[in-house]
Amino acid sequence: MARIAMVGTGYVGLVTGVVFAELGHEVVGVDLLRERVARINRGEPPIHEDGLAELMARNVPERFRATTDIAEAMDGAAFVFIAVGTPSREDGSIDLSHVERASADIAPNLRPGQIVVVKSTVVPGTTRDVVRPILKRGAPDPGSVRLAMVPEFLREGIAVRDAMSPGRIVIGAEDRSVASAVAALFTGTDAPVLVTDPTTAEAIKYASNTLLALKISYANEIGALCEDLGIDVYRVMEGVGMDPRMSRYFLNAGLGFGGSCLPKDTRALRAVFADRGLEPLLLDALHAVNDRQALRAVSSLDGLLGGLRGKRVAVMGVAFKANTDDVRETRAVPVIMGLLQRGAEVVVHDPIASNNLREMYRMDVAFATTAREALEGSDAVVLQTDWPEYSELDASAFEKMRGRVVYDGRRALSATQVTFLRGRGFTVFLHGAGVQ
Ligand code: UDX
Repeated sequence: MARIAMVGTGYVGLVTGVVFAELGHEVVGVDLLRERVARINRGEPPIHEDGLAELMARNVPERFRATTDIAEAMDGAAFVFIAVGTPSREDGSIDLSHVERASADIAPNLRPGQIVVVKSTVVPGTTRDVVRPILKRGAPDPGSVRLAMVPEFLREGIAVRDAMSPGRIVIGAEDRSVASAVAALFTGTDAPVLVTDPTTAEAIKYASNTLLALKISYANEIGALCEDLGIDVYRVMEGVGMDPRMSRYFLNAGLGFGGSCLPKDTRALRAVFADRGLEPLLLDALHAVNDRQALRAVSSLDGLLGGLRGKRVAVMGVAFKANTDDVRETRAVPVIMGLLQRGAEVVVHDPIASNNLREMYRMDVAFATTAREALEGSDAVVLQTDWPEYSELDASAFEKMRGRVVYDGRRALSATQVTFLRGRGFTVFLHGAGVQ
């Protein structure tokens, strides 16, 4: 079992660190935020993630604790992970300042034999051309710097499960001994391992997220056609997905992709192309399709309601997907903005993410504490997140609406709900299928 210093206790650092602790390693998380460190040491998860509280209860403080003191955390550690954020800059390119700062903080404390592992999502070439030179410049023994890049494939909401049994582990290392030392950390996870160089490992992460985003935008492009034809894109993708060369995953048409990874990573990759004088044709198209989804929904609603001015619309679900309270780049924002711009009055509901929306975005909307309350008196409802509780709403909740328009942007409603709503005279519009 190894001692690990985890620099950055945000989403990735915390989940990865706690899971390493669960696998038996001794992990010390490092963060600049005192409040966060204190919270972690009290065993309180600072984010909402299934299973995290239980793992923290089992491992804090024996195998997982946090500190603001990087030197103390690195003392005696065999591995130092960089798991800090890599946000977007104004122009969409990646902001590497946290990675640079973490590398500079690590360098003077680096002892021969310690392996630095880049876990943050960084554009291809960063480990070799940015992290390595900073470490070499600041390390007491520059010749002994050992470095690897291990990209992160966690999905929010099921991140703990993903970390405990990853689908694959990609290790980008400059030499075999570093690769096998890093691989040994994952003993007990049973995942297939691909060993490659750091730049290829970085590219695998971007190429993976971009293909996921492309699949979604592709389904959405076909969805627009299906609406026009009066057929259902979900049935089409069911048939497409039966071919094992395609796979049915990530072909769910809807309001588009949001979250902390797909939008940011696809934008950063586009900037890398532009930077290198390459033409990112597909990347441009996937964003154009994604941006269009909310606009299409708003104009369909406008048509169904005969104008949005003065109409009250309930937006159900503001999290970027179900089972998370994360609202970063949620599609709820362009949907709400579009509705407001056309003069609608908006009431929103989410089981857990409303506060985050309120804090992160300033929008003139009302917040309902229950789904029923949001529906009451509304002319139309938009299902924006596929929260399971929405598929359990019964007829009586919808009967409280003033109008009769239901727009399902995520196929959040069950087939039974769609049938009973249509039977009671509701106009149910399914994104990617239409009214039918
Ligand atoms: C994603 C990747 O899946 C993960 O491997 C990577 O490490 C981080 O980015 P995450 O952002 O947690 O994970 O969510 P994901 O489940 O991929 O969904 C992203 C967005 O795409 C959500 O807004 C979701 O609603 C949307 N989506 C997903 C679709 O619109 N259709 C689909 O078929 C799948």
